[in-house]
Amino acid sequence: MDNKLYIFDTTLRDGEQVPGCQLNTVEKIEVAKALEALGVDILEAGFPVSSPGDFQSVVEISKAVTWPVICALTRGVEKDIDVAAEALQYARRKRIHTGIGTSDYHIQYKFRSNREEIIERAVAATKHAKSYVEDVEFFCEDAGRADNEYLARVVEAVIKAGATVVNIPDTTGYCLPSEFGEKIRYLMEHVDGIHKAIISVHCHNDLGMATANTMAGVLAGARQAEVTINGIGERAGNTSLEEVAMILKCHHAHLGIDTNINTQRIHATSRLVSSLMNMPVQPNKAIVGRNAFAHSSGIHQDGVLKNVQTYEIIDPKDVGIDDNSIVLTARSGHAALKHRLEVLGVDLGSREKLDKVYQDFLRLADRKKEISDDDLLMLVGEDRKALHRIKLAYLQVTSGVGVRSVASVALTIAGETFEAASSGNGPVDAAIKAVKNIIRRKMTIREFLIQAIDKGSDDMGKVHMQVEHEGNNYYGFAANTDIIAASVEAFVDAINKFEGAKG
Ligand code: KIV
Ligand code: ZN
Repeated sequence: MDNKLYIFDTTLRDGEQVPGCQLNTVEKIEVAKALEALGVDILEAGFPVSSPGDFQSVVEISKAVTWPVICALTRGVEKDIDVAAEALQYARRKRIHTGIGTSDYHIQYKFRSNREEIIERAVAATKHAKSYVEDVEFFCEDAGRADNEYLARVVEAVIKAGATVVNIPDTTGYCLPSEFGEKIRYLMEHVDGIHKAIISVHCHNDLGMATANTMAGVLAGARQAEVTINGIGERAGNTSLEEVAMILKCHHAHLGIDTNINTQRIHATSRLVSSLMNMPVQPNKAIVGRNAFAHSSGIHQDGVLKNVQTYEIIDPKDVGIDDNSIVLTARSGHAALKHRLEVLGVDLGSREKLDKVYQDFLRLADRKKEISDDDLLMLVGEDRKALHRIKLAYLQVTSGVGVRSVASVALTIAGETFEAASSGNGPVDAAIKAVKNIIRRKMTIREFLIQAIDKGSDDMGKVHMQVEHEGNNYYGFAANTDIIAASVEAFVDAINKFEGAKG
């Protein structure tokens, strides 16, 4: 059996479906280039029929990257496939990913159909996709809960119809690893012509088993894994790219399965995705969490100092964590900044943008001694916010013990300045109320996360905020050495998501 595992990245499709994680086309291109540098084999760029934005992103990503196969998702219907084929027109290597539900839940309740009709629709969709591209992947949605015998019939039929890859998703994250591995083994043993196609696994993390299920599938013969950076994705997320890549690296001696992933780019890619999508990585997340390599207990520290292998199975350098990464200070020049941004996978595109970020960098370096990678990613993000229609122009807060807090705020909206003041139950409450006195919309803060300052009192405070407006959730992010300013900026960032586009 071929011992290469193809890495199919769906950060920009399944990952981007998460509320609040939406990227614009420029940001998607930035992520796509980082994924290319990371070495993914297939890059799922979007679901073109779902929106003009998704269509355009697939077009632009196809133009911007060279090596990975560019994949576009469709439902198993002709119109979707036609639109996907059009969106893929500039891709050097292209794949259409079509499919249909295969569990009885989907067949009966979603499609109000029957098993035989679903096979006919699966075959028709595969053939239609095949009329446009050689490389067709078919997904058997909710395969995790589908009957294995029936699933084998679907897989056999779509391979006969020309599918080059067949995706077996555990759409609901339901399966046990033993069950999922058994499912793949069953298909490998019972489907005629199975070796004409690659079997792919696509697992969700609803029960925290996505990576375990993916590995069980790979050990049973799957040779493509569908993954996202930081495990982002619908609900509890998808299988993490970094976990699969590092499992195969750590266990290479006995599994002998290779990937094309340049693991030293994992850390930077993780940070880039987290920062662009405003999606913090949980501190104890395997491989990419802030604490993944931090030994805090005395016993562990003692062991690590004697021999790092006592408690560390991964050399942090293998995932791109460089102890010398905090090197930028107020004396660093343009070249050092540009180099560090390149290491982080950020291409600002023009000298003008680099100059702008450099000026922001100098301003921050005046307030902080050392500028970390996280700080740089935030500065780049702040620079993108310069295009926002609504901006915080001024903020003054008076607060203390035994006094009621008072805030004055000025916002510029499409260039015009509006001012308001308010008192509140603390400085953030006063400032947010002052903003609400200007933006008179019904808005409710549903989540408000201030990330701990962990490297000294001059460090940046990071704020993530979820704001509900007219039944939808909008996400804002900001970072500032002043935590109250960061809170107000995050609120304004969220407001820009629903108010920003208005004239
Ligand atoms: O989880 C799933 O089943 C999917 C398919 C569309 C591949 O994302
Ligand atoms: Zn999925």
